[in-house]
Amino acid sequence: MQLVKWAHDLAESLLVDSLPRRWAHSQRVYSQALTLAPALGEDAELLAAAAIVHDVGYARAAVDTGQHMIDGARYLRDVMGADPRLCSIVAFHTSSAWEASELGLDDALTEFGPAEPELVDAITYCDLTSTPAGDLADPAERLSEVLERYGPEHVVFRAVSAARPELMARVARVKRRRAEVVEGKLN
Ligand SMILES: [Fe+2]
Repeated sequence: MQLVKWAHDLAESLLVDSLPRRWAHSQRVYSQALTLAPALGEDAELLAAAAIVHDVGYARAAVDTGQHMIDGARYLRDVMGADPRLCSIVAFHTSSAWEASELGLDDALTEFGPAEPELVDAITYCDLTSTPAGDLADPAERLSEVLERYGPEHVVFRAVSAARPELMARVARVKRRRAEVVEGKLN
């Protein structure tokens, strides 16, 4: 739990005062990560730590390119010396690859590759089942809310529109995996 405590304290210090909604959202993403622990086995702690820090790229101390997944991962790597696998989860979370393409930042993302598909699926599930205010969310409604919030001129709108089928597929894979683990335990 040492990694999780470190990640929690770091995210809280970066977000709680200046970005309280991001902090509320991050706490929900963390609690969603805990629900996936049985399906993740020994990577459960890593995912929980990544969940609580996944949006630190929005913090003033971390903002650089404006692509918050890359900025967060670089901050965690360069300033905090974080575990490369944790940085990779943050770098590739949710619609990161599509946003990086839109912004010409594919090379920056490769600094953190290759992505680990099972963990990227898991962090995406946690992010999309958490609203910006920190409540539970339906993933399809959450994506619609993001599109509405940014509007068609914004890079995030274009990225999320293109990413939507794959993001929903990630959510479906996580749900399937979780159900298999629950069934396996019952049998
Ligand atoms: Fe998020």
